[in-house]
Amino acid sequence: MYLPTFYITACLSPSPWPLFNLNPHPQIFLLSTLPLRQSTHQHFSYFRTPPDVTMVAKHDDSFNNKSHGAQFEGKDLITFDENAVYGDWRDEFHKQGCVVIKNVITKERAEYYAQKQMEWLKSFDLGFDENDPSTYTAEHLPVSFKGGMYMAYASSHEKMAWEARMEPKIVEIFETLWGTKELLCSFDGMNISLPNRTDIKWSPWPHCDQNPRRKGMQAVQGLLNYAPCGDKDGGLVLMKGSAKLFNEFFAEKRESFDHEDAPPPELEYMDLFLFSQKDVKWFEDRGCELVKINMEPGDFVLWDSRTMHYAKFPEGNQIRHVQYICMTPVQFANEEALAAKKECFEKWQGTTHWPHCNIRPTDDAPMRDGKPCPKNRTEPREKPVITDQLLRLAGVKSY
Ligand SMILES: [Fe+2]
Repeated sequence: MYLPTFYITACLSPSPWPLFNLNPHPQIFLLSTLPLRQSTHQHFSYFRTPPDVTMVAKHDDSFNNKSHGAQFEGKDLITFDENAVYGDWRDEFHKQGCVVIKNVITKERAEYYAQKQMEWLKSFDLGFDENDPSTYTAEHLPVSFKGGMYMAYASSHEKMAWEARMEPKIVEIFETLWGTKELLCSFDGMNISLPNRTDIKWSPWPHCDQNPRRKGMQAVQGLLNYAPCGDKDGGLVLMKGSAKLFNEFFAEKRESFDHEDAPPPELEYMDLFLFSQKDVKWFEDRGCELVKINMEPGDFVLWDSRTMHYAKFPEGNQIRHVQYICMTPVQFANEEALAAKKECFEKWQGTTHWPHCNIRPTDDAPMRDGKPCPKNRTEPREKPVITDQLLRLAGVKSY
């Protein structure tokens, strides 16, 4: 059974689109070639649908009925002036496809979040005790992915997750990056990776979180770091420079690597491509470099979703504490995606890293030993304070 996804029939006029004339951010060029959500604000009218582009609802056999808002734009949603010099972190970001921004929150604030995450882990009453490494096993923990990514149990909507998303500097970073204050955020999970685990098998899984059918920079992922993260600690590994080679790599047909942790095909994960070692070498041969990102508590890292990356498992004794945070302009979303997002929000469900599309409401409980986890939760342990800002970032309230 399939639901419609969208594709674009572009009947391009002989002349280029009338671009940018209302853009308040002259360094950032926003292409107005896509039939996106209509803006109610005059200063965003450069997003309005040009008269000679038509969006057509089509049954796309590629994806299942959970793929709300699954359009594959063949063009950039946004482009940036390659000659612009910003004099801030954006210069590094646009050059490498990734950047670490220091001290986005204070060390005290990072410690607060790390403690809240620890309280959350213990709140399941499965016997987990951070002072007793013998309890660092699956039976004492809620169900996670790759030894520490928590996306279920309504964790995406915990008060601590929303507080992190709405940290003033976090919001400001995404506003600066995209050149708009009208943003949507993903309902992403967190990562609490315990070291010295003997009950799980772990292997690197270099991947990118953008479907090869999407072209250009369409999403940017972020990670707010709460604990010290050095060479031996668990943390993000990025292939610097790989985003810029995305089109070249996918110019020929590529098969996603059959990794042991690949999601089952029936999930039609959509925005995930797993790279083989041969693929890794392809990027290295073109000057890219796999770099482990070391961070201090309070630092934030941003990466273009076309960037190859994975999380390194801890080798030392440090517990990893991270919140994933992604934001994109609300104008990238269509009405179908916003409706799906609203459903997710109302049911306290998570999403992929993509704030504006590939949104998949699901009532499925995390599976423990082949059965739905009896500790499943359908609402957060600590609900967020609902504000207009939160509702706008959630896509529930209009800008
Ligand atoms: Fe990823």
